[in-house]
Amino acid sequence: MNGVNRAILIFRSKEGLVDAALRRWLNAARDALKSREFFSAALSGGNTPAPLYARLAVERDFPWHNTHIFQVDERFVPYDHDENNYHFINTSLLRHVPISPKNIHPILTFEPSPQASADRYEQDLTSFCKSFRMRVPRIDLVILGIGEDGHTASLFPDTPALSEKQRFAVAVTPADPSKKERITLTLPVLNNAVHVLVMALGKNKAGAVREVVENDQSTLPASLVKPEKGSLTFLLDEDAGSLLSDKKRFISR
Ligand code: 6PG
Repeated sequence: MNGVNRAILIFRSKEGLVDAALRRWLNAARDALKSREFFSAALSGGNTPAPLYARLAVERDFPWHNTHIFQVDERFVPYDHDENNYHFINTSLLRHVPISPKNIHPILTFEPSPQASADRYEQDLTSFCKSFRMRVPRIDLVILGIGEDGHTASLFPDTPALSEKQRFAVAVTPADPSKKERITLTLPVLNNAVHVLVMALGKNKAGAVREVVENDQSTLPASLVKPEKGSLTFLLDEDAGSLLSDKKRFISR
């Protein structure tokens, strides 16, 4: 993968994987705070990052006052719905730490439509850029998961969101009508990040992981995440890494 500083790590235990994610979070924050007054992270929903959020929730000494938290994506469901990512992120992490509410950037779903929610999130991201003199948000650490179909964030295969070049956030209608409408950060934002972590657990992810890691020509959404001015790290358990041809090389000790 040209131009991207990429690492792949396979862990024998889930604890090892979560430790590694936590270390990367702490290092990304330390590095960001050396050069400016804040650290920013964008968080995914899904099951995989839950143990990381639980570990962060007890990091009392972390510089939460200087931290901005964004969402990677959201389902267009009310806050109290069990599929609402902000509800999950808030209850598992944010409400336990001393972060200022003005530094939390949720995707709000009480707007009349997914498009209106995306527009509101776009405005929030734009004012963040203005405050800190950025053209495109440069988020220090983006935590992503991956779906069996190769989706990441709410970027699904063969959807118009994948070709978005200007906007920071868009509304997405998944092809599968049983899936909720969504709002997602776009590739221009994900690819402008300083560090991107892709966490994947389980055999059901192995095929998508292999395609994304080994096929340079892949057009799966997760393959389009290429932070060229940053780093891309895959943190995998043995099942998720089980189809990689060179898997022994990636085992982390
Ligand atoms: C979401 C995510 C989505 C997720 C993957 C993996 O909110 O659902 O944005 O992209 O990261 O679907 O989900 P799991 O971690 O639950 O396997």
